[in-house]
Amino acid sequence: MLSLSNGRINVPIPEDLPIPSRRFHHLRLSAENRAALEQFVDEWQYRHTFREYGFHVDQTLLFQGLPGNGKTATAEALAGELGLAFEVVNYTQIVHSYVGQTPKAIASQFQRQNQVLLFDECDSIVAKRSFIDEQVGTHARNEAVNQVLKCLDRMAGTLCVVFATNAPHAAIDPALLRRMSHKLTFPPPTPDDCRWLLEQISCRHPMIPEEVIFAAAVDHPSYAECEMQAVQRARAWLMQKLKSGNGRKRK
Ligand SMILES: Nc1ncnc2c1ncn2[C@@H]1O[C@H](COP(=O)(O)OP(=O)(O)O)[C@@H](O)[C@H]1O
Ligand SMILES: [Mg+2]
Repeated sequence: MLSLSNGRINVPIPEDLPIPSRRFHHLRLSAENRAALEQFVDEWQYRHTFREYGFHVDQTLLFQGLPGNGKTATAEALAGELGLAFEVVNYTQIVHSYVGQTPKAIASQFQRQNQVLLFDECDSIVAKRSFIDEQVGTHARNEAVNQVLKCLDRMAGTLCVVFATNAPHAAIDPALLRRMSHKLTFPPPTPDDCRWLLEQISCRHPMIPEEVIFAAAVDHPSYAECEMQAVQRARAWLMQKLKSGNGRKRK
């Protein structure tokens, strides 16, 4: 753990955080998203050579989509693919009420190395800046956005930053949007996508009869809800089996 010198902000540098085991093939990704992510990973692996040849190497991505459709899971899988640790920014650690503290705390986040850092629900920190200082807090918000932009312009080393939001692009500061060359959208699942997911769940739980899992509905607003329903059905099946005395006995 490393403590920054100003005495107020303790930033854990997680040298010991594990590399996630999640990979892209564990997720249902659109062909477009998969291609963009694979290109990102390929360029990252050869980043030193790309830089030697005078090319900029992207270190940031923006994920947009309704909840439960894979933004966090994909950021984690990206870390797994890149061989980096994964961490979600804890806003309570960086949003301070004292003037000047928030920018310092944001800068310290960008000093992290060897990890994928996720700014989840990033609209709360990089919302469109307001140039009319009429609201209490507007100044602090602008200060935060400005600092994120400054940090993005100075990014180097082995930090990869993912911004994720449920909000439309219009809610995000345009200067941030301009800096993102990878903007991926995560759509809700089609019935085919749900069937793919049910198959994955069934493979993970081979002792649950397939028909129990495949009886789940295939029209859901998110992968997470589809998964939740199938898992609930499987658990209910197991409980019923246990109660009827056919399952493993209670100790
Ligand atoms: N595209 C997907 N493919 C497979 N599973 C998914 C997908 N999207 C979501 N899930 C499942 O739902 C869970 C919650 O998704 P999450 O990534 O947290 O959604 P979001 O961050 O977009 O709100 C994941 O951990 C995963 O189990
Ligand atoms: Mg999420």
